[in-house]
Amino acid sequence: MEELLKKFKQSVNDTGALTVIEAQKDVPFEIKRVYYIYNVEQDARRGFHAHKKLEQYLICVNGSCKVDIDDGSEKSTVCLDNPNEGIYVGPKMWHEMYDFTDEAVLLVLASDYYDEADYIRNYGDFLQFIGME
Ligand code: TYD
Repeated sequence: MEELLKKFKQSVNDTGALTVIEAQKDVPFEIKRVYYIYNVEQDARRGFHAHKKLEQYLICVNGSCKVDIDDGSEKSTVCLDNPNEGIYVGPKMWHEMYDFTDEAVLLVLASDYYDEADYIRNYGDFLQFIGME
């Protein structure tokens, strides 16, 4: 699932770097919500859910973390350690995030507002939802 990783446009000069992400150009959806995860305990794992419809891009803008992605048939682990790179987490993709470094800030761009009804928080329910069981 390496194809889910994407490098964003970057402008670098001798003063520093700038990365820009435009909705429906650099990510395949309108961005309705932005949130970020930080101050995560070293051995903590987050996520443990899939979404029914939501599309997201995860970008570790500082530090690093790992993301496990599972579409029900294939599993993949990605290390996010570049502020210029993001991973697409579409609907029906079980995901877990872990190994956050102390300074890690995980930025998430989301296609819709927060809706608890869009979450599948049980792995058995996830497999049932995608018709694998
Ligand atoms: P959750 O999505 O479970 O976090 P993670 O996937 O990182 O483990 O969200 C944690 C809490 O924050 C949960 O109580 C729901 C709340 N929350 C919102 O209120 N709005 C949001 O946009 C998000 C992402 C979470």
